[in-house]
Amino acid sequence: MNTYRQYSLFDRLCFGIDQTLRTVCNNPKTTGRACPSLNEAEPLMTILERKNSAALMRVNHTGEVCAQALYHGQESSSGCDVVKEKMHQAAIEEGDHLAWCCLRIDELGGHASYLNLLWYLGSFGMGYVAGLMGDQWSLGFLAETETQVIQHLEKQLALLPRQDNKSYKILHQMRLDELDHRDEALKAGAPSLPGPVKKAMSILSKIMVKTAYWV
Ligand SMILES: [Fe+2]
Ligand SMILES: [Fe+2]
Repeated sequence: MNTYRQYSLFDRLCFGIDQTLRTVCNNPKTTGRACPSLNEAEPLMTILERKNSAALMRVNHTGEVCAQALYHGQESSSGCDVVKEKMHQAAIEEGDHLAWCCLRIDELGGHASYLNLLWYLGSFGMGYVAGLMGDQWSLGFLAETETQVIQHLEKQLALLPRQDNKSYKILHQMRLDELDHRDEALKAGAPSLPGPVKKAMSILSKIMVKTAYWV
């Protein structure tokens, strides 16, 4: 098997384009885990409630697009093959979340955010910079991202219409997975990021949440 160093710049560019298109066109690589809401019956909801659920799941879908991009960015710029492989695998695991959100949006008759390519490119850039700063900071960035995603999912779970068990099951499982991701990063020695960086990440994610709900 080739190590990352053996791939040419052209190969890596092709991988990057493939990863981007797979993410924004909703065809991510996944582990193939079944969607947690698979055996749940479609709940009875009013049109407004369905619209609200679809918009909330759009927000979560965009969050997962950003997660893919952050991992892809870090995979691209890390100087260590082990870290690159870890980021690659992490993106595939997060691909399950992306696929589940996409499925639920379809069931609710909604659509993914029209701005996902922009969010992808912006998040890729952030991941790329984090990867350049070295493996420890990259890990710290990952742990902080997961921490903020967990807080975000807890708010989203509270906002869902009460009877929307299908969306609830998906977000609940995502939250458990993100807790594992955060704990793994902390166990691996992720440092705490400086306060202003955490604040900037939180502001950006709030902008994403507000925008993706509507567009
Ligand atoms: Fe996720
Ligand atoms: Fe995660």
